[in-house]
Amino acid sequence: MVFLNPNYQNPTGSLLSLERRHRLLALSAENGIPIIEDDPYSLTSFSGESVPTLKSLDRHGTVLYISSLTKIVASGLRIGWIVGPQTVIERLADAKQQFDYGHSIFPQWLADKFLSSSDFSRHMDLLRSQLLLRRDQLVTSLQGHFGDQAELVIPAGGIHLWCGLAGEWNESQLLREAVKRGTIFVPGHLFGAKDGYVRFTFGRADADEIREAVSRFADAFTLSG
Ligand SMILES: Cc1ncc(COP(=O)(O)O)c(C=O)c1O
Repeated sequence: MVFLNPNYQNPTGSLLSLERRHRLLALSAENGIPIIEDDPYSLTSFSGESVPTLKSLDRHGTVLYISSLTKIVASGLRIGWIVGPQTVIERLADAKQQFDYGHSIFPQWLADKFLSSSDFSRHMDLLRSQLLLRRDQLVTSLQGHFGDQAELVIPAGGIHLWCGLAGEWNESQLLREAVKRGTIFVPGHLFGAKDGYVRFTFGRADADEIREAVSRFADAFTLSG
């Protein structure tokens, strides 16, 4: 089984190209390897356009598609969905029923009302424009403080920015110094990356908070050599 997050991936923010999607689907069909497409971010595409999902290109029924409202509406609703072959869905529905007797009706009712109202598309427009503002602020601040020392993967959607920082620095010391200053990031090694990378998330803080946070992060960085 292959599990992947092809749109604005967590943690790198990268987008799998259309060509690689087709190659992946061909390999999956040839070798009988199912794909789980974990896609909570594609609706956040800043331009409003996205590469087609693997599921929409799947001609052999090898893809199970999952997504949720966590990143676009509210994580507390615990609402997600899955698209796949009927036999698989029936078995999963049965497992969920045995697990927790099914999800509470109230959040499902709320989600249904919101998704079918005109407020949803207004909300998504606002979300995309706010995320873009925050991404731009993060990029400008990082470039301002670190210049060529920072190698940024600038995402076209989602909430994560992956950043390589040149030089000799100590990841745990950087994290300690950053936390002391009230700011936080995720060290790249927690995602299996080699040394020198960090993940920033720009979904929650507003532009002013991001500017201040990067300034504090830069102070912490100078003490982490
Ligand atoms: C790629 C990816 N999939 C799934 C999740 C979790 O989503 P949910 O709250 O719907 O379980 C996250 C959250 O960080 C994520 O980044």
